[in-house]
Amino acid sequence: MKLLKNVLTQINSLNISKYRRCQSSTNSTIRVTGSVFSQLEHYVDGSSRDLIQRLSTQVEVRTQFISKEEECALFQELEPGLKRKRYQFDHWDDAIHGYRETERGTWGSVCEGVLRRVKSVAFPEGSPLLGPVHVLDLDKAGFIKPHIDSIKFCGSTIAGLSLLSDSVMRLVKEDDAHQWLDLFLPRYSLYILRDTARYGFTHEILKDEQSVFRGSRVPRERRISVICRNLPTEKQETCR
Ligand code: OGA
Ligand code: MN
Repeated sequence: MKLLKNVLTQINSLNISKYRRCQSSTNSTIRVTGSVFSQLEHYVDGSSRDLIQRLSTQVEVRTQFISKEEECALFQELEPGLKRKRYQFDHWDDAIHGYRETERGTWGSVCEGVLRRVKSVAFPEGSPLLGPVHVLDLDKAGFIKPHIDSIKFCGSTIAGLSLLSDSVMRLVKEDDAHQWLDLFLPRYSLYILRDTARYGFTHEILKDEQSVFRGSRVPRERRISVICRNLPTEKQETCR
């Protein structure tokens, strides 16, 4: 609870998701073709080809980033601590519904290796990271409402591993709900949000009933995400 209060700034959550749902019932799926898009189209959908192109350097989904064995090692380290907590369901005002969380600073060697890989692909070299890694355990019935991570506590980049379940992450432009991207986040993948995708768009994880990507159902099971963030630079802090 306290962790999330520090890290998240929730904005207009219900309005944004309701609006987007109306849109998607009238818009047909955007077909993306061409070499830049051929890999992207498996996991990125959006309100326009132009938006997908503009954000293509700021949004990444790396599938099979961890192996089954690495997932198992992460799970075994995290599960005993998580199991002792109860999922939080009752706070409808919170950005996250049906979750428990923890943070972790020290890991065994397999997990340490995974996190080193996350850091090396996601963050600029030498970029200081936000202390311990954040771990969020969403119940099957849990979901994350649209929000922007706090600009005071977190820097330009957010990188998250998806354990145990596939899911759909939706990005919606903060000041124009017509502009959106959906990311298909398969189990074992790493997603990275940078710069405008992180500051100018809300992100959310869809609840099971709404979990659809390009017209295909993406069943949501219990999902654990392991999230690394960098620290804001001094320039960012004084600019905002
Ligand atoms: C968050 C968040 C996404 C995820 O904790 O701020 O957006 O992948 N999490 O769990
Ligand atoms: Mn977030």
